[in-house]
Amino acid sequence: EKGTYPHYMLKEVDEQPGVIRKIISEYQDANNELKIDEDILKAMNDADRLYIVACGTSYHAGLVGKQFIEQWAKVPVEVHVASEFSYNMPLLSEKPLFVFISQSGETADSRSVLVQVKEMGHKALTITNVQGSTLSREADYTLLLHAGPEIAVASTKAYTAQLAVLSILSAVTAKSKGIELGFDFLQELAIAANAIETLCDDKEEMEKIAREFLSTTRNAFFIGRAVDYYVGLEGSLKLKEISYIQAEGFAGGELKHGTIALIENGTPVIALATQAHVNLSIRGNVQEVAARGANPCIISMEGLQTEEDRYVLPAVHETLAPLVAVIPLQLIAYYAALHRDCDVDKPRNLAKSVTVE
Ligand code: F6R
Repeated sequence: EKGTYPHYMLKEVDEQPGVIRKIISEYQDANNELKIDEDILKAMNDADRLYIVACGTSYHAGLVGKQFIEQWAKVPVEVHVASEFSYNMPLLSEKPLFVFISQSGETADSRSVLVQVKEMGHKALTITNVQGSTLSREADYTLLLHAGPEIAVASTKAYTAQLAVLSILSAVTAKSKGIELGFDFLQELAIAANAIETLCDDKEEMEKIAREFLSTTRNAFFIGRAVDYYVGLEGSLKLKEISYIQAEGFAGGELKHGTIALIENGTPVIALATQAHVNLSIRGNVQEVAARGANPCIISMEGLQTEEDRYVLPAVHETLAPLVAVIPLQLIAYYAALHRDCDVDKPRNLAKSVTVE
């Protein structure tokens, strides 16, 4: 039920702080220590490489998840789009573990890879929102998202839930290997949930940004470096699918290798700047597009901001920044779609779960 909300998407965006808190409690034991099933931890520890396989938004979550796992648990990770996997099957390591990320647990492209790798005798873990779904039943292990039903076609709370669960999996695996993260992970995840709540309370500002940058444009670009690039990919997918604005996400440094030719007077370029180590270089990219007439909208993070920024996110741990940075992108896409009279919850040509290959 969407209650007083005009759309499921807005309701589901607002549910995100609660979903993160629910995930924290679901993955805690009686002593408030994070826990993951022993057999999953064992599979994580036995693997010499993880292969994440997913589609769409879940694929974007996988790209961020790779950072958590490699930085914290120190296991090498590859991330693959499910529909391409069998055409260009990666050379597998000796002890691979496959990780399927799927909100619905029913996506045919992902399932066909699962069937293929199970036939090859490999182990698989499914991260899904739906207990008893096909991908959950057919994999060896399941981690649940606990996000509650996601009704809007555009995925929002499942994405942040996927990031939260992947971060917990990574932190617990690191701990089991005796790797010190050097910060209080649970506390930082709780801080991220609070930051998401602050952003959800600032919808008027998001609506203004959508009006300022997106109400009449034909196209839009999202740029970022490091993990901000992956969040930009997700922001551009959200905008495309519900507002029908042609949008592209790019690595900040890649635009100049061709695509910058598309920048005209007024082209909106939404730039993410949440990562200290690339703060200067992403701002350099903003200068490059601004010099060609673009209308830059910089979304930065407290501690990294400058006066030119359009929006400053509350400070959170740098590695967890994607959970927070995606929120304004979801809301900006929502308001852009509203301003353009689009059917937010049921965009054209799309189905909630894609059960054909
Ligand atoms: C975008 C969106 C899709 C799904 C994709 C995979 O908002 O919802 O890109 O993420 O179809 O679906 P699942 O996660 O159910 O496998």
